Amino acid sequence: MSEPLEFDQHLPAHVAANREAWDRYAHEYVEAGERAWATDVVDWGIWSIPESDVHLLPEDVSGHDVIELGCGTAYVSAWLAKRGARPVGVDNSPAQLETARRLMAKHGLDFPVHLGNAEKTPFPDASFDGVISEYGAALWADPYAWIPEASRLLKPGGWLMFLTNSPLLILTVPDQEDLPATTTLQRPYFGMHRQQWEGDTSVEFHIPHGAWIDLLHENGFEVERLVELQPSAESTTRYTNIATLEWARQWPSEEAWIARKRA
Ligand SMILES: C[S@@+](CC[C@H](N)C(=O)[O-])C[C@H]1O[C@@H](n2cnc3c(N)ncnc32)[C@H](O)[C@@H]1O
Repeated sequence: MSEPLEFDQHLPAHVAANREAWDRYAHEYVEAGERAWATDVVDWGIWSIPESDVHLLPEDVSGHDVIELGCGTAYVSAWLAKRGARPVGVDNSPAQLETARRLMAKHGLDFPVHLGNAEKTPFPDASFDGVISEYGAALWADPYAWIPEASRLLKPGGWLMFLTNSPLLILTVPDQEDLPATTTLQRPYFGMHRQQWEGDTSVEFHIPHGAWIDLLHENGFEVERLVELQPSAESTTRYTNIATLEWARQWPSEEAWIARKRA
């Protein structure tokens, strides 16, 4: 694929806020990025659930052009490259991309990563076989913008996989920063979309399951699977501020959507 064109420099307010926030958070993601880049064992999410248990990726991605929307340190793209795919990363944070580029050089891989908003990219229509996002655009970009963009970017029959927090988790987390999910509903389910936590400048997006299904269908996708991830009894996480293991063993703390663009 030829090198892409210019990304739109005009950022919607939530994208500008998230750029500033992720440049601040980036240093907290360096160590985890280094660990993920150093292994070929693919695992997912805050509980590091092995791909061999959940099969979120297509069996064979070799030769696939895949775009990772919100790639961060780009270890997912690195895993895909090691499996024979041709990844392209897009991320909104210069600081995150600095780590991605350093780790790429360190591990002898070479794929394009671009600074830009995943909601609006300059790539041509139907230029990718797969779109992936692990906690990237999946929650930091507006689904009503990035899902149409993902659909535009995919060839007919192309695959989409994204992983994000479950609505149940978002409904039960207290407003105050850094407190894990509770067993009490804290906010309405109907109408959930844009979410900001007390004392935090970043903007997240979470929508109900029915809204995801409608949005995906309206943008030419067939939903193949909704995988509600359950950690094993031995799982650990550094994100104890999001959910305890006891909680996540009983309710889904995160979920992966797998969809295919209609041929
Ligand atoms: C948690 S990281 C995801 C990367 C990696 N999979 C991980 O779990 O660490 C979230 C990333 O999404 C990026 N991001 C947020 N909003 C974005 C947007 N509108 N377009 C592209 N990337 C975005 C952030 O800059 C950040 O690097």
